[in-house]
Amino acid sequence: MTYKRQLVTAALPYANGPVHIGHLAGCYLPADIYVRYLRSKGEDVKFICGSDEHGVPITIKAKKEGVTPQQVVDKYHKIMGDAFNGFGISFDVYSRTSSPTHHATASEFFKTLYDKGVFVEEVTEQYFDEKANQFLADRYIIGTCPKCANENAYGDQCEKCGTSLNPTDLINPKSTLSGEKPVLKKTKNWFLPLDKMQPQIEAFIESHKDWKTNVYGQCKSWLNAGLQPRAMTRDLDWGVKVPVDGADGKVLYVWFDAPIGYISATKDLFALSPEGRAGEGWTKYWRDKETKLVHFIGKDNIVFHCIIFPAMLMAEGSYILPENVPANEFLNLEGDKISTSRNWAVWLHEYLVEFNGKQDVLRYTLCANAPETKDNDFTWKDFQAKNNNELVAILGNFVNRTLVLTHKYYEGKVPEAAEYTKSDVLLLEEISKYPAKIAASIEQYRFREALGELMNLARLGNKYLADNEPWNLYKTEPKRVQTIMNLSLQICANLAVLMEPFLPFTSAKLSGLLNLNKSLRWNDATRTDLLLTGHQINAAALLFDKIEDEAIDAQIQKLADSKKMNETENSKAAIQNSKEEITFDDFSKMDIRVGTILEAEKVPKADKLLKLKIDTGIDQRTVVSGIAEHYKPEDIVGQQVSILINLAPRKIKGIESQGMILMAENEKGELSFVAPTKPNMNNGGAIK
Ligand code: 2FM
Ligand code: ZN
Repeated sequence: MTYKRQLVTAALPYANGPVHIGHLAGCYLPADIYVRYLRSKGEDVKFICGSDEHGVPITIKAKKEGVTPQQVVDKYHKIMGDAFNGFGISFDVYSRTSSPTHHATASEFFKTLYDKGVFVEEVTEQYFDEKANQFLADRYIIGTCPKCANENAYGDQCEKCGTSLNPTDLINPKSTLSGEKPVLKKTKNWFLPLDKMQPQIEAFIESHKDWKTNVYGQCKSWLNAGLQPRAMTRDLDWGVKVPVDGADGKVLYVWFDAPIGYISATKDLFALSPEGRAGEGWTKYWRDKETKLVHFIGKDNIVFHCIIFPAMLMAEGSYILPENVPANEFLNLEGDKISTSRNWAVWLHEYLVEFNGKQDVLRYTLCANAPETKDNDFTWKDFQAKNNNELVAILGNFVNRTLVLTHKYYEGKVPEAAEYTKSDVLLLEEISKYPAKIAASIEQYRFREALGELMNLARLGNKYLADNEPWNLYKTEPKRVQTIMNLSLQICANLAVLMEPFLPFTSAKLSGLLNLNKSLRWNDATRTDLLLTGHQINAAALLFDKIEDEAIDAQIQKLADSKKMNETENSKAAIQNSKEEITFDDFSKMDIRVGTILEAEKVPKADKLLKLKIDTGIDQRTVVSGIAEHYKPEDIVGQQVSILINLAPRKIKGIESQGMILMAENEKGELSFVAPTKPNMNNGGAIK
């Protein structure tokens, strides 16, 4: 199917903190490359984004900072918007879900579904925190994921395995407000009956077998598990008020209102244009079947964009559905998961200050390492290597040699190409294929591959100069040198056009150096005569500078400081969390003996548990102990331990545990056995 226009969205980031490299690599950079490419092709495209300002992530942050949710979103909306702008993420509109347009749009959308009788109204028991006097929706509640056993799954989603959850699915639920175990309390909510809609949704997903394997696979696994009704309202006071009677104190579920944010942001965009004043400019992007709707997101958002939002759109009836949802996997940092709370991140607003003018270096590194098919790792050493060995040594070097020689030999005027050799003709043919090659990769959302091809063009140029050595021919074969330099300059011009989606700042700089016609578009780069004979170029300047070890070491040190700070915070928290005082009587009830571990083995399907056989001096008994992450079974056989033998037996993973071995924790959370020194096995067991 051919489309008349494209509407491209990038996930609306929660306005509860600044944005980091994981955000950029996950969705904003690929979306920006895609959109810039389409614009360069002259296609009709709109690029939509904004801040997601509702939901529990915002209210939790407000509570933590002792400010209002509005103050939180005002602060981060600005920081995020500035950071995106700083990196050249070229949204046509960056709106926000606290805007009046959005409240009206989301409210109207809900009302339409309500009036059509789509929702199932149901009183159910939901978790309630009695201490905080509040229902616990979404991130206000954590517990163990029933699917992957992640102990920090949220009430609406497990971020580890991606499963979408209801709070009542969690094992061992805990309020994140008070840490208390919540109670169940009745409340009325409106549910989207995804179960009844399964056939339609299934047909929709099945019509998109071309989606990325990770996206299609996740959708299939939800469908196979059977879709469940999902509450679209919440008992909270921050968000879009539920626009029906009997819904006081309730707001729309943030994942109901956030994707509608794409629609309201499009309205905001058109309200600024003359078309918008006529009223309906935005509708052709959302209602005309000849619009291709593409959502760029991170993998934790797949279910919401591929199943829930399309279900909402289908139920509403007047909108188009997404044609593709190219979700990326996650980016790690120096081998560890990026984490806001542990300050394990490279913050974009800080990068902009610390590497002022080097936005394209980060764009390049993140695209070259994009987590397109699997999680990937960002390291500062790799960032430095990509800059020094690729941007400086290949792309920058080729352009610089060409510009410098043009000034040296021809006072900066493009020389006339004389006769082409056979190899020149082959080269010209090769060059003209690059726009199509790079385009094919971009159109299939393979941005790493596309960037690789762009660099191949620069490599081609470098090789051409190295093979032909114009500096050795200048005196003897001036005509030949003219051709070599003309051709090299043409490659520079083509590079300036083709690099624009990936490296927009460098493209602008190179276009300036070449004094290039600003209206050149993608397909112009199939030509090899973008610079006419006699065209005057500007003074040469370097496109990229080498990044020295000091700058990289400073960043690595910054991360090490974060880690240290985090460890200190953890040990402070450990002291705060230390247990309540007990009486001497409590203590004296415990019968503690010295025992020896006779056997140790892992408990199947339990990462943390070991099954131990212990000689207590009076008998031998089985104990299940949660130390598997700290000790290997083979290392602890023969180890002496202190064992509490009068603890009531209990079954753990089907094994009866008859006691507990005592462990002590140091300030770093490391465990050690509470026991007399282990006898030295090499000297006959005598304790020295
Ligand atoms: O995961 C997030 O950061 C969400 N705020 C993304 C929302 S995307 C869209 F639906 F608005
Ligand atoms: Zn999980």
